[in-house]
Amino acid sequence: MEKKHRNELYTIAKQWVLDAGRMIRESLDKPLTIETKSNPNDLVTEMDQKTEQFFAKKIKSYFPDHKILSEEGFGDELASLDGTVWIIDPIDGTMNFVHQKRNFAISLAIYHDGIGQIGLIYNVMEDVLYHVKTGEGAYRNDTKLQLLKEDITLERTILLINSIWSGENRRINHLKIQQLVRKVRGTRSYGSAALEFAGIAEGSLDAYISMKLHPWDFAAGVLLVNEVGGTTSQIDGKPLNFLTENTIFSGNKQVANPIIDEYIELK
Ligand code: IPD
Ligand code: CA
Ligand code: CA
Ligand code: CA
Repeated sequence: MEKKHRNELYTIAKQWVLDAGRMIRESLDKPLTIETKSNPNDLVTEMDQKTEQFFAKKIKSYFPDHKILSEEGFGDELASLDGTVWIIDPIDGTMNFVHQKRNFAISLAIYHDGIGQIGLIYNVMEDVLYHVKTGEGAYRNDTKLQLLKEDITLERTILLINSIWSGENRRINHLKIQQLVRKVRGTRSYGSAALEFAGIAEGSLDAYISMKLHPWDFAAGVLLVNEVGGTTSQIDGKPLNFLTENTIFSGNKQVANPIIDEYIELK
């Protein structure tokens, strides 16, 4: 993608993300309609939908030939990442949005012919924007993020994992996960994949294991993590698939193989 065009897209996308964030903040003192999707804990609110519609309308009117891959159904049905594709999660961490009114983010990425160009993750309530133009550095607001530390060991790793995987389940050997949880320094789970990737990119978290992430959960996050020298893949080491769900590992390269090889046993 031509640099000038990318800069234009970046400027406009950033403005729309900040505008959408303001709309969400302003909605917080009004009553909220909450519905459920695939199960009683899979929440969606009118603000998830309105925010996605806001982006879809803007993109379709400014860039009619661009495609949209997004969570709430206002995007396109895609069979490939050909052309310019905006990958959007209007609210990542809807459960936090509903229960905590914080700890949620807007995640927006722009890919061109399958290659990540721009990644934006906006922590709406903290007014912190993580942003990257691939190859030009990753930032937290105006501060450039450093390359990930090289001297990390498993014993000093902060691992992001949902505690559900430490109990018996049908996807992964939970006894191995229990061993991993004991081995690392500590575990965390924030309930927003986008903010979890941002935490990896800023080096405050070192490794992230998550089941069933969709492209809109990780499209911006992986660009941030890559930019600071981290790695993201499917948990078996294969590249991410942007057209399906993925079970992923993301994190510092120093601990990727030790975790994947010794502690991950898919069923
Ligand atoms: C969810 C969050 C959560 C992750 C789920 C996602 P949503 O996104 O990122 O952290 O564990 O898999 O679906 O539904 O709040 O946009
Ligand atoms: Ca959702
Ligand atoms: Ca999400
Ligand atoms: Ca969402």
